[in-house]
Amino acid sequence: MNLKIQFDCANINWDLVSGTLKMVGMATYAAEIHKKAFENSHTVVFIFDDDRLIGFGRAISDGAYQGAIYDVAILPEYQGQGIGRMIVDSIKKSLQNCNLILYAAPGKEQFYEKLNFKRMKTGMALFCNAADMQKRGFTE
Ligand SMILES: CC(C)(COP(=O)(O)OP(=O)(O)OC[C@H]1O[C@@H](n2cnc3c(N)ncnc32)[C@H](O)[C@@H]1OP(=O)(O)O)[C@@H](O)C(=O)NCCC(=O)NCCS
Repeated sequence: MNLKIQFDCANINWDLVSGTLKMVGMATYAAEIHKKAFENSHTVVFIFDDDRLIGFGRAISDGAYQGAIYDVAILPEYQGQGIGRMIVDSIKKSLQNCNLILYAAPGKEQFYEKLNFKRMKTGMALFCNAADMQKRGFTE
């Protein structure tokens, strides 16, 4: 592997972002919606193996004391090789004085526990697609 890390949205193929999210079973939108989400984020991280986009993640933040992590995804064949940790560590470094929250995909909580995240006892969400999120195991 010849890993490269990119901290901006220059020359990103948004169809690949959408396709990767779909491939790993995460919520997907049209490519231009993902472009808007990443471009409006405080921190973006893209990982390439040579020129191939293999993983990414992002955080929205006030840049002062609060941040939230979204869209952490690694191509299946690259999972389990420390790349997810690399992405989350980069976000943590970029937002060092911030509390970081997220909601893990059901079944992926242990990945974040490995990275020292703790389960929240009072997390609340008002999802646009509330019934679907409940069905998928995100809410009670
Ligand atoms: C979940 C995901 C981001 C993890 O990335 P990754 O590159 O595979 O994980 P890493 O190799 O960096 O793993 C870091 C640590 O977490 C552990 N880990 C990773 N995925 C795990 C899982 N699903 N369950 C339990 N532990 C896990 C690893 O064993 C490793 O532990 P170690 O440091 O003791 O060896 C990646 O598997 C993925 O993209 N999955 C599909 C999309 C998804 O569910 N994203 C998360 C949305 S919240």
